[in-house]
Amino acid sequence: MGTDILQLLAEEGQGANMKIALGVSGGIAAYKAAEIVRQLQERGARVQVIMTAAAQEFVRPLTFAALSGEKVITSMFSAGAEQPNLDSAVEHISVAQSLDALLVAPATADTIAKFAQGIANDFLSTLYLATKAPVIIAPAMNVNMWEHPATQANLDILRRRGVHIVEPGSGYLACGMVGAGRLAEPEQIVAATLEQLGMAQDLAGQTVLVTAGPTHEPIDPVRYLGNRSSGKMGYALAEAALRRAAKVILVSGPTALQPPAAAETIFVETAQQMRTAVLDRWERCDVIIMAAAVADFHVKSISPEKIKRNGAIELQLEPNADILADLGSLRHAAGKRTPVLIGFAAETQSLLENARDKLTRKLVDAIVVNDVSRPGIGFNSERNEVTIVTAGDAILVPEASKLDVAQRILDAALRIRQPHPAAAIFAD
Ligand code: CTP
Repeated sequence: MGTDILQLLAEEGQGANMKIALGVSGGIAAYKAAEIVRQLQERGARVQVIMTAAAQEFVRPLTFAALSGEKVITSMFSAGAEQPNLDSAVEHISVAQSLDALLVAPATADTIAKFAQGIANDFLSTLYLATKAPVIIAPAMNVNMWEHPATQANLDILRRRGVHIVEPGSGYLACGMVGAGRLAEPEQIVAATLEQLGMAQDLAGQTVLVTAGPTHEPIDPVRYLGNRSSGKMGYALAEAALRRAAKVILVSGPTALQPPAAAETIFVETAQQMRTAVLDRWERCDVIIMAAAVADFHVKSISPEKIKRNGAIELQLEPNADILADLGSLRHAAGKRTPVLIGFAAETQSLLENARDKLTRKLVDAIVVNDVSRPGIGFNSERNEVTIVTAGDAILVPEASKLDVAQRILDAALRIRQPHPAAAIFAD
């Protein structure tokens, strides 16, 4: 196998996004896989398309390469490689095991038979044997082929092995016959795949706005006041919400991070710009999570010229408006319970007390407290440990990746949005 393909697969372990390998096997329905690529990307996934030789008779790899933004794998050994490298061929098997999921759509009778019997004579069938990721198969074929005992027996073998089958629909088939064998709808296939990945669809139809990163407050044309926020927690929240099917608006201060492609990202620099971006959009949001480390002050008069080093200077600072507190007041004045408002707090002592104080002062639903005195978590780290403080609760989220912590914060947002029915009985 060519190193270019290895490279594509090797990147998977490093990427923040989940990676789904989409195997396309030969059938009229192959073109429908294009829509599946699009929908998976909308949910924040990177999609590596693998086409069997037969699939390439129906759709050209270029279509999938353009859609997925990734090189399409079309054979075991990349074209032009005169001396396939055995080490590489072995290496790809270990890399294949780090995929998040293998989806095959459409899956032909031939591909299903190969998987069931353990035949590994092309890239897709080899990958199936090599990967330990969940496997999802969406069959599509002529009704007689579908109903044939050989196909059904092969499917039974796969089901027993834990492969998830997205059953085909019934209707007019490309061959002119009527019956079962039509590829399930792309929405169904995508939903089944995400479900296998343990990704809840519970934010479908909801808009989640996240602020992230620091703000920079200019001093002169080349200098600014800033802080150490990396933006990682906010970007993880955006990613996590996308995975749960939310529409995501990410309002980001300056960071070195790549925003998730499926999020609507608004880049801002100053606290004032962040405030405008948030206040322009807050009313159409269901959940707002302010993970940004907004600068508390801005420079009163920004020098239009670069300040020369002629001894000491004095900067007069003015406080910035508190965006979260403004949102809390606006929501309160509108007499609404939406959007759910969640803020962050960086504390070194009296964590719960300070968080509860912020909660009531800013009229918000929850404060996520970071203990910034603890090394190895928080600012610029990949991991975090937080306590989610609400009016009646304080939930400790033990140290975990920022993406996992983000999921727990979204769980809390959903609980606030849709309180358990029993809770209403005790509410004021
Ligand atoms: N926040 C904001 N606008 C500001 C300042 C903060 O929206 N001008 C938001 C932050 O995004 C965060 C929360 O408010 O969600 C942080 O509140 P803050 O009172 O600044 O708390 P700390 O940063 O912990 O600072 P301190 O308690 O020391 O004031």
